Amino acid sequence: MAENDRNKYKAVSSALELIFLKANKLEKKGLDVIHLEVGDPYKPTLDRIKQAAKKAIDSNRVFYAPASGSDDLKEAIIEKYRRKQCKICFEEIVASHGSRPVISGVLKVLAKKGDKIFIPAPFYPSFLGLSKQNGAQVVLVDTRNYGFKLKAAELQKKINEMGIPKVLILNSPNNPTGVEYDRSEMEKICVLARKYDFWIISDECYQSFSKNKHFTMRQIYSKAIVIDSCSKEYSMTGWRIGWGLMSEDIAAEVKKYLGLFVSSLCTISEAATIEAFKEDGVYNYEVQKNIICDWLDKKRIDYVRPEGCLYVFPDFSNYLKSRNGPQNSLALSEFLLKKSQVAVAPGIAFGDYDSYLRFCFCVDENKFKEALCRIEKSLVKALI
Ligand SMILES: Cc1ncc(COP(=O)(O)O)c(C=O)c1O
Repeated sequence: MAENDRNKYKAVSSALELIFLKANKLEKKGLDVIHLEVGDPYKPTLDRIKQAAKKAIDSNRVFYAPASGSDDLKEAIIEKYRRKQCKICFEEIVASHGSRPVISGVLKVLAKKGDKIFIPAPFYPSFLGLSKQNGAQVVLVDTRNYGFKLKAAELQKKINEMGIPKVLILNSPNNPTGVEYDRSEMEKICVLARKYDFWIISDECYQSFSKNKHFTMRQIYSKAIVIDSCSKEYSMTGWRIGWGLMSEDIAAEVKKYLGLFVSSLCTISEAATIEAFKEDGVYNYEVQKNIICDWLDKKRIDYVRPEGCLYVFPDFSNYLKSRNGPQNSLALSEFLLKKSQVAVAPGIAFGDYDSYLRFCFCVDENKFKEALCRIEKSLVKALI
């Protein structure tokens, strides 16, 4: 990576945080801020799940538990995947405080200094930071010319150019673009993974919003490590339960790492999650997705229609670089926050996408319409 790019990416995860913090500050001042910058579902956790947590407290499920998840949590995970026709066993499951520590643990175990980690861009910001923990070399593969999906032919080209990766990180449905790979696209990528014998981390945290509900990479490729979470599917971002599915030998190593650094899960959240898993997630945001797509169409803003996720990632090139207006994605986000009190995520947070913005559309329908109305008015000013 060129020195220029290196400096740019230093700011990657903080650009989003910056907007989030500024939005919160305005809110504290009493302004009516609408948050479209973070992926927090607006609907609360279901009552039956909350009741299970209360019951766990009353029955004293309040002591330390095994570091990679209690047995009954793992049984519930096994049952959840059985419904997806995916057979997994106890030893293949590593659960933790949300999925992020699991991704961190897996990367710690798999990728050492000098190994290459390929990440299709744009990407979920944590992938980048977590990949660099051990000094691995991150290789970004730009997907903007291919509908934001990694094509096998492009992957082959990158391998020819940069060498064989130790790990490829895939995320479908994708944050920030909302695009989703179908099984045949994944299978083509797995042909290369088998040929060159690399690991695939498949982040499937948004699968419940997918049209391919019964498909997971664990069914296609033996060196796939699946990452999943109850955060978005069950509106449980604050409960902090996520998990990974992987071969037993890798799981054993990841458990050692998480045992040292994270320790046991919140037992009350475990009980809530077990209850949650009795059914699949019930939320979908199709109405909001249609609202934003219609709005973008009307405004002739370029975007790829999201399939199974909570986000859309339009290109605002036409609104940048007017003489006095915002010049890049962070400036445009700050401008929209200031002028319309709507927080959106700057594209630079997700890689070299400095004319893009990410909109999270899991917000109340009326609030969302109001946000777009306000943005529309401000955008006119951006062009002056
Ligand atoms: C692609 C992706 N993976 C993982 C996570 C982390 O989820 P959690 O740590 O809440 O399980 C997120 C959160 O936004 C995400 O977008």
